[in-house]
Amino acid sequence: MNNLNLKESEIIEAEQDLGIGFSKRNLNIQKEEEQGEVNFKVISNDNSRENLVYLTNFKNIISKQLPKMPKEYIVRLVFDRKHESLVLIKHNKVLGGVCYRPNYEEKFIEIAFLAISHTEQVKGYGTRLMNKLKDHCSSKNIEYFLTYADNNAIGYFKKQGFSNYIKCKKEIWKDLIKDYDGGTLMEACIKKHIEYSMLSINLQAQKDFLINNTFKFLEARKVRRHLELVDVLNKHKNEVRFIVMMLFYIYEILYY
Ligand code: ACO
Repeated sequence: MNNLNLKESEIIEAEQDLGIGFSKRNLNIQKEEEQGEVNFKVISNDNSRENLVYLTNFKNIISKQLPKMPKEYIVRLVFDRKHESLVLIKHNKVLGGVCYRPNYEEKFIEIAFLAISHTEQVKGYGTRLMNKLKDHCSSKNIEYFLTYADNNAIGYFKKQGFSNYIKCKKEIWKDLIKDYDGGTLMEACIKKHIEYSMLSINLQAQKDFLINNTFKFLEARKVRRHLELVDVLNKHKNEVRFIVMMLFYIYEILYY
């Protein structure tokens, strides 16, 4: 990396331009997961005490983070049996999550609420959560995520691959999702061949491969140029000897 003479800040800027700036933060969360500090769980209202506690904690985070959303409405959806929630748990405490309604036959989910606890925002948890949801839903043959994004969160959704260009046919979703005022309908297409939670590692591996091979190629080109020069000199030994002698004579004539 140093060989390129790029400053750390320039590399970060370049990564952000490429849309892979999230990868470092996502890697940090992955490490926390590997160390068993953090885990992600898909839960629903199944009457188990543990899940009811998690859902209650998650409902409180949503209410705090989306204060304009009526509390009764949040409770209704989070505890509705047709909705599922992917919650993020750290040291047995819920830090956030995403509540969604899956429509398995129609191959799409509607994201109803998404929230990370205030003190934990912008650390990469929101990205990791979305990547985990993408992998989970992909394994259930879901092809589209649809959501009415809060206008404050449009930037976040764009960074997770959402856009307001809706590819999923309207007749599939129009009677299944609720229209919201003050939100923008956004969609992300889920690609079966991508393992979203491994994206950072894979992108980092591709980046390392590219950089290493660029150096190898440049090194090889230098060596090849050198060998070409030796070859030319060998082929034209006599002419070279003649030119050197001529230069020597000229030098002598001029300076002696
Ligand atoms: N607007 C614009 N960009 C954002 C926002 C935002 N509100 N929140 C995060 N980002 C950006 C981050 O800066 C980061 O960008 P970078 O990778 O280029 O540096 C990227 O999005 C990912 O950040 P994460 O740290 O992974 O996200 P975070 O853990 O903060 O979670 C979330 C994002 C869920 C939006 C969180 O900020 C939150 O809970 N906000 C309040 C509640 C909210 O707005 N929820 C969404 C409502 S819409 C709905 O529920 C359908």
